[in-house]
Parts: sequence; C-alpha cells; structure tokens
Amino acid sequence: MELLQVENVEVVYNDVVLVLKGLSLAVEEGGITALLGANGAGKSTTLKAISGLLEGEDGEVTDGSVVYDGKTINKWAPEKVVREGIFQVMEGRRIFEDLTVEENLRCGAYTRPRSEYAAGVERVYEYFPRLKERRKQVAGYMSGGEQQMLAIGRSLMAKPRLLLLDEPSLGLAPLLVEEIFSIIRRINSEEGVTVLLVEQNARAALGIADMAYIMENGRIVMDGKSEDLLNNPDVQEFYLGMGHGGEKRSFRNVKHYRRRKRWLG
Ligand SMILES: Nc1ncnc2c1ncn2[C@@H]1O[C@H](COP(=O)(O)OP(=O)(O)O)[C@@H](O)[C@H]1O
Ligand SMILES: [Mg+2]
Repeated sequence: MELLQVENVEVVYNDVVLVLKGLSLAVEEGGITALLGANGAGKSTTLKAISGLLEGEDGEVTDGSVVYDGKTINKWAPEKVVREGIFQVMEGRRIFEDLTVEENLRCGAYTRPRSEYAAGVERVYEYFPRLKERRKQVAGYMSGGEQQMLAIGRSLMAKPRLLLLDEPSLGLAPLLVEEIFSIIRRINSEEGVTVLLVEQNARAALGIADMAYIMENGRIVMDGKSEDLLNNPDVQEFYLGMGHGGEKRSFRNVKHYRRRKRWLG
C-alpha cells in the first residue's frame, strides 16, 4: 500500500519563484524510499511541502496534491501533520544546543502522553547507546554525528508513522554515515516506521532504500528499485562517481546528447 502520494506538486516561494514544477512520487508503507538529487534540486522543498513547513518560509503549494493515508494534507498546519504521524528531521541537525540530550528527547515527545516518556527514551538509547552515555551533556557540545543521532532519536519520541529525513549524512565521515544508515534501516524494520530519505549521498542512500527517485531542477527525472538504479550506467556515471569524464553533467544533458548522437549517427 502507498502511504504517501505526492501528485504533480508545484511550489512557489515569495509568490514568484517556482521551485517544484509538477513533482510526483509515491512512498510505500513499511519501506524506505530515497529522494536523491544535487544541491538546489528541490529536495528540502519537497519534504516541507509534505510536512507543512513551507508555511514559515513564505512558500506555497500552488498546484497538485499531497495525499497521506488517503487524506489530502497540503493545506494542513504543521502541528496537525505531526499529530497524524509525519515527522521531519530537518537538514543540519536542528537540535536545541543549550539543552541536554535527555531534555532534547523530551521535546520530541510533545505530542505524546507523558506516560510513554520513559519507555520512549529507553528505546532511543537502545538504538543509540552513545546518547545514553551523554544523556546529561549539553547537546551543543557534541560531535556532528552525535547531534545527528540525537535529531533522529528525538523524532522517534514522536512515534512517527512516516519519518522524513533530510540529508542525515551531511558533513559526516563515511564510517559514521554507515553506522547511522544501518540504524535507520533497523528503525525502519523494528519499529515499522516508513521512511522518506532525502540524500545527496546516492550510494549510501541506495544501499538501504527499497525504491528511489532522482530529481533535478524541481522534477523527477528517474525512479526505480534501488538495485536497478545502482546498476544503471547513467546513475553510476552521474550520481555514483563511476564515470570517466571530469565534467559533471545532468541527466537532461545526457538525454540531449544521446538524442543528438542518434540524430547525427
Ligand atoms: N525560503 C525560500 N525562499 C526562496 N527560495 C528558496 C527558499 N528555500 C529554497 N529556495 C530555493 O529553492 C530551490 C530548491 O531549494 P531546496 O529545496 O533547498 O533544494 P535542495 O534541498 O535539493 O538542496 C533553490 O534554488 C533555493 O534557492
Ligand atoms: Mg536541502
């Protein structure tokens, strides 16, 4: 079953800047779906169109719809979206730097009854033992990797049904990315949380995702099962850095190039 359908969504910022140009994607319940693309492609905007967070940025869904669990949610306030089970972990680990690890976790549980708090914290510590060691520490002094763990742990406190992760690998060393991604996979399978994972790190994301979409310039340019994309020569060349040329080209240029080649050849 599809838990989320984004259908032909257009997003405009400040009434003038068109950023999403008819974007469509679907997220299967219980799986991990990756949304890949370069900087500026519109990945964060897509997540905000789902979570309702465009509102605070003078952005608006001007066409299309976002359907979650059969309900059209693109006019909903962000608080309502959270209460219905969608939680977005923002890019850049927006934790509360002056609060301790445990206080940060408590903040994630604001939509839940207090009685669930203790069990929730223990559950987070099972996934992230390092957070338990640092439970009394002020979050702002932790390493980037630990802050990312805290951001994900805090989202678990809300018991989401759909977790939106915005570039959890950003700025982290490869070993740490591997560690955090394997925990994301565990959370997905053990908690039954559906994940929409936004990444520039295509290799890491395709390693744990079931399905993936690649976007450029506000549109999806390719989609498929992760294993098929990993084996696709264009994906290998342009997103996995396995090509020969130094110049970074986009899919659209490749298509033009192929068309031209066919035409001339
Ligand atoms: N609040 C905003 N106001 C105006 N333009 C924005 C805003 N946020 C993002 N944009 C523009 O939208 C485009 C896509 O941004 P974004 O969704 O952040 O891309 P990504 O997450 O893929 O890097 C960029 O050109 C960016 O400059
Ligand atoms: Mg972004």
